Amino acid sequence: MSESHVWDEVDAYFTAHLAPDDEALAAALRDSDAAGLPHINVAGNQGKLLQLLAQIQGARHILEIGTLGGYSTIWLGRALPADGRLVSLEYDPKHAEVAVRNIARAGLDKLVEVRVGPALESLPKLADENPPPFDLVFIDADKANNPHYVEWALKLTSTGSLIVLDNVVRGGRVTDAASTAPDVTGTRAAIELIGSHPRLSGTAIQTVGMKGYDGFALARVLA
Ligand code: SAH
Ligand code: DHB
Ligand code: MG
Repeated sequence: MSESHVWDEVDAYFTAHLAPDDEALAAALRDSDAAGLPHINVAGNQGKLLQLLAQIQGARHILEIGTLGGYSTIWLGRALPADGRLVSLEYDPKHAEVAVRNIARAGLDKLVEVRVGPALESLPKLADENPPPFDLVFIDADKANNPHYVEWALKLTSTGSLIVLDNVVRGGRVTDAASTAPDVTGTRAAIELIGSHPRLSGTAIQTVGMKGYDGFALARVLA
């Protein structure tokens, strides 16, 4: 049992008033837990942030890398218009199977497609299909590949698109230039790519809440 913190209470308060799970979201978490999936989905208030960002973007096409049980997928999918589309990439067939059921129960199966396999194999296949540019890309998979995911996001987006990168703090280890841990080197490479790329304007924000000490980066695609 982990220690309880004041920010857990604050997150519970914010989430209860601003981003409560409805039946489909609660069921998605219940079934994910029952299937033994790890509890690493975004928090409710973070899911709501993703949904608001997608709405602010006027997103019609969303790409997610890292589906897990589809909890963030449902928040994002609900931002789409009736003719919108969300493609979510997931390595683990068991996660994808749970997600597909959760997404269908949320009534989003017409809009959302889960593709199983390593994202670095799914992304070139997706690009070969010449899809319309994605308005929002949520990167939330294996952190070692973060720079590759940012590069692919650039290929699959256009001016004004938004890239969201989850979990960029790594418990503070993101500052450790000497680290050889793949999650740290991958996240550092992604942050530095966003900072130096002529077609990206980004920032990163530290957070605290029910997921502990964490953070995310946002990057807007320029012309
Ligand atoms: N976005 C989800 C959480 C994703 S957890 C939510 O907030 O609800 C990260 C997911 O990325 C896991 O399901 C894991 O299996 C998947 N993943 C890990 N490596 C991957 C890879 N190489 N390609 C695609 N998915 C990967
Ligand atoms: C982990 C992955 C995530 O995407 C997250 O939000 C939290 C934790 C993990 O792999 O531990
Ligand atoms: Mg995450």
